[in-house]
Amino acid sequence: MRIITLFSFALATTTSLAFPSSKPTPRDTNSTIGPEKGYLVIVGGNLQSESIYSRIIALAGGPSASIIVVPTAGGEPTYGQNFSTALTFRELGATNVNVLHTYDPAVADTDAFVAPLITADAVFFGGGRQWRLVDAYAGTKTEVAFNEVLERGGVISGSSAGASIIGSFLARGDTSGNDILVGDHTVGFGYLKNSAIDQHVLVRNRHFDMFQILEVQPELLGIAIDEDTAVVVSGNDAEVIGSTYALIYDGGFWSRDGSGGKYDLPEKKFYFLKEGDRYDLAARRKIISSRAQF
Ligand SMILES: *[C@@H]1O[C@H](CO)[C@@H](O)[C@H](O)[C@H]1NC(C)=O
Ligand SMILES: *[C@@H]1O[C@H](CO)[C@@H](O)[C@H](O)[C@H]1NC(C)=O
Repeated sequence: MRIITLFSFALATTTSLAFPSSKPTPRDTNSTIGPEKGYLVIVGGNLQSESIYSRIIALAGGPSASIIVVPTAGGEPTYGQNFSTALTFRELGATNVNVLHTYDPAVADTDAFVAPLITADAVFFGGGRQWRLVDAYAGTKTEVAFNEVLERGGVISGSSAGASIIGSFLARGDTSGNDILVGDHTVGFGYLKNSAIDQHVLVRNRHFDMFQILEVQPELLGIAIDEDTAVVVSGNDAEVIGSTYALIYDGGFWSRDGSGGKYDLPEKKFYFLKEGDRYDLAARRKIISSRAQF
């Protein structure tokens, strides 16, 4: 009798594991690493490829989509509507491109400043120093409106500093210089959760810099994107497009030729993805199947 009772208990336990209750686990509460709706297009600086601009325009809804370019990271005294990135979007066919800029968080907290974002389909953060975006917009109505672009299914994009701001941890956020990985500003806008995003990685020999962040916050997914290359995120899917590589720091290793990686420093692993490669942000692994699609 006692044995039967124990067996029944074991069976009940097994059954409850096989059919879990609907109560969300901690993992369920972060169901996506990327935004639940909308897209991220994260560019590693020196954006040249039409294919990347065109992807932003297409994901935003096409040439008539409202694209807001935010040059604030650049640090110039003023910006006009003909800021270079805005001109490039227009040259490539976008007809509704506006530049939005302030350094003053009091201005960024006004309805008048936020107005163009209310109907925006895409936001593009230009390059410079990423902490300037934090100082101008963090905690303001503008930051809320950036989030609402995603909630409407729109696009958040950015290059260089504008890429790093997309991470939850702000890489190279120090006001004294861009060579300090963990600086006096460490909180990004966090559109890609649990991540740190570096840029210009190959051309500036930054391959090993990400480990300075991962030593402090090992739970983060590190993504370091080279110039003129983008990581396009939809939910938990990331796709690499553009001319060179995105480096992944997830504690694992993957190689195109199937090799295991011969590391002298096994705790300092990273690997390269190129155009067409896809990555599962939730499982933290390279998607192998050629059939995998968004
Ligand atoms: C931007 O460039 C266009 C085309 O050259 C020009 O017509 C317009 O006046 C310029 N706008 C500003 C604000 O400089
Ligand atoms: C969920 O996401 C938040 C925000 O990025 C993060 O702080 C937290 O650690 C995540 N929780 C889990 C269980 O992954």
